Amino acid sequence: MRTIWLARDGRTVEIIDQTQLPHELVIARLKTVADAACAISTMQVRGAPLIGATACYGVALAVAEDPSDAGLEAAISQLAATRPTAVNLRWALSQMRRALREAPERRRLAAALHQAGDIAEADVAINRAIGEHGASVIAEAWRRKGDERPLNVLTHCNAGWLATVDHGTALAPVYRAYDDGVPIHVWVDETRPRNQGASLTAWELGQHGVTHTVIVDNAGGHLMTQGLVDLCIVGTDRTTAGGDVANKIGTYLKALAARDNDVPFYVALPSPTIDWQIESGAEIPIERRHEREVTHIEGWTEEGRRVAVRLTPQGSPAANYAFDVTPARLVTALITERGICPASREGLLALFPERAG
Ligand code: MRU
Repeated sequence: MRTIWLARDGRTVEIIDQTQLPHELVIARLKTVADAACAISTMQVRGAPLIGATACYGVALAVAEDPSDAGLEAAISQLAATRPTAVNLRWALSQMRRALREAPERRRLAAALHQAGDIAEADVAINRAIGEHGASVIAEAWRRKGDERPLNVLTHCNAGWLATVDHGTALAPVYRAYDDGVPIHVWVDETRPRNQGASLTAWELGQHGVTHTVIVDNAGGHLMTQGLVDLCIVGTDRTTAGGDVANKIGTYLKALAARDNDVPFYVALPSPTIDWQIESGAEIPIERRHEREVTHIEGWTEEGRRVAVRLTPQGSPAANYAFDVTPARLVTALITERGICPASREGLLALFPERAG
């Protein structure tokens, strides 16, 4: 199953509504650009590559209503404003603009659907390649471990197939290694406040049959001191040309703990996640979300009722920083669709030489 697709009517886009997982698998229908923008900002869809793909389909929905240049630009502005950190959004919208500006208005809808479909298919192929390259890192780490015990991998947030069109980024190597027969166990950071680890990563891994254990966000450092983590793999929402990595809040602390314990720390990314325009992670806009995500927690009762309960005292303010930046020096290597490289300008340019100059 994919996370997004064009419905049979050819005019509606369907998505998995991730706000309902892991309790219910609900398919939501997007009929307008406003639906697509809302799906991104409320995190019915989330994860950098999937945000990009959804924005592409959102442009197609807009063009179906108004194929003019003004309509196209209004849709692009509306979608660009949904979430600030994942650079795939900006990349995807610029791809759509380039493809559609050249098309006459009467052909724009067909061109938009075509381009959105191509970008979604490209995401699948890219992630499959990340899986292949990353699986060799996992297999090698398991061989080096030198016994039959499973390799313990720690991941943060959700960078599995739900965060992409298919396969995932950080989890693509895990799935590929598992399918190749490498015994593997995943420590899943719950990832407060939205709990993408506890709800989405755990669900995905369970569906695939991968052994895993959900841990509270603060447990990773302790596990590393006990020799219970062999390597970390995380995704990223934006990686700079210099190799700094923005990812879900808490990633930086895992990278610090990994460095202190000599645990390799890998970041898996598709090339549309690279922001070639900036060198330093300090320039990445960090999304701040509503404080209610911190003050309250949502879950399902035993009877299957969805409820939100307050965690904090009435009146205590909360701050909700959604991402942090891990500096390149803490990253062992980047895993991309073109191979594995050091987290540095030189490393990235060796894989993407067309970006030089
Ligand atoms: O806020 P989210 O859920 O959209 O966060 C994005 C992510 O899924 C993670 O930061 C992920 O690790 C990188 S995107 C594959």
